[in-house]
Amino acid sequence: MAAPRRRLTTTVGIVGGGPAGLMLSHLLSRAGIENIVLEKRSHETIRTTQRAGILEAGSVKMLTDTGVNGRVVTEGHRHEGIDLRFNGVSHRLDFQDLVCESVWLYPQNEVFVDLAAARKRDGGDVRFSVTDTQVLDLTSDEPKIYFTDDAGEDFELHCQLVVGADGSQSICRKAIPADVRSDHFIAYPFAWFGILTEAPPSAPELIYANSEHGFALISQRSGMVQRMYFQCDPDEDPSTWSDEQIWAELQKRVDGPDGFTLKRGPIFEKMVLPFRSYVCEPLRYGNLFLAGDAGHTVPPTGAKGLNLALADVAVLAKAIESFATHGDHALLDAYSDTALERVWKAQNFSFWMTSMLHSRADQSSFERKRILGELNSVATSRFGQQYLAEAYTGWPHG
Ligand code: PHB
Repeated sequence: MAAPRRRLTTTVGIVGGGPAGLMLSHLLSRAGIENIVLEKRSHETIRTTQRAGILEAGSVKMLTDTGVNGRVVTEGHRHEGIDLRFNGVSHRLDFQDLVCESVWLYPQNEVFVDLAAARKRDGGDVRFSVTDTQVLDLTSDEPKIYFTDDAGEDFELHCQLVVGADGSQSICRKAIPADVRSDHFIAYPFAWFGILTEAPPSAPELIYANSEHGFALISQRSGMVQRMYFQCDPDEDPSTWSDEQIWAELQKRVDGPDGFTLKRGPIFEKMVLPFRSYVCEPLRYGNLFLAGDAGHTVPPTGAKGLNLALADVAVLAKAIESFATHGDHALLDAYSDTALERVWKAQNFSFWMTSMLHSRADQSSFERKRILGELNSVATSRFGQQYLAEAYTGWPHG
């Protein structure tokens, strides 16, 4: 006979130990609310998974003001603008001038490292490499999470609330019956081919380039390592591409009369990133709450994924605090609507940036010219630039 499950209790069971789950755990612990985080991946797997690299001002403030640590400021790079490049000409958007804000280039895996270290420093209960996680009794007053820890021991965690911060493949979301949730979804006929290269920066800020050959993004990581992407087919196999072919493809998409030339180096990582826009509504089922990619996914064009996840948990932490310390449900009841207001603004922004910057295989000459008209409207108008700058640097946290 199998050994009985060991019983654990806590206030909030958090499924998912990526940045959203860890930030929530950090905020709850600061408010004196007990929580346990369960993550199926290992610390090493998350640490080495490449994700987007831009943090909104509000995300940076969350990391610094809540005492995670100051590495984002000392190791990250403050960017006061981006280049929009089309027809081979760059147009700089000066975020400081336009909306008095900046963003920080600081990769998501570093945010994870910082949050995991802060949880460890503060005695947080974070369990990596757990398996067989199941969420149960979500509409009762005592939802449960079954899991097996990294030593093979089976547990049942009894909580008051469960938070699903377990990414786009969320098991928590899948536990919500289909007839009580709406799935809003669109697919795109392209993806991004992403690389890491050992080379000096090609530009001081990010370049978002639209060209007749498709989109390219020139981003950075450090003085020695750069991150770049170009639009490709969703079923592209990165292993069939030589460094020479990749550089030729990227260069073609940024070529222009100014002679801008990418600085090349060996490419040590290649991957294809899928593109989708998705929202689950509502972000709540009984005593289960979804946060981050578990509840919504954006294409990477505006770098909104991590920022939205952090904004969700800022709202959710306040709501849980009000519930746990005063027994007040009002903010928990409002969580889904409050979080979704920002989510839909970000969905619109990510969709708009994606549509304006990418090209479709079956694009007519009208559509190509219309998009150039749209890019021109943004680049040559202070109001157009301000709309982009405000969304890119992030709307204020409520
Ligand atoms: C990145 O540096 O990985 C990055 C930056 C901006 C984006 C997407 C990805 O919009």
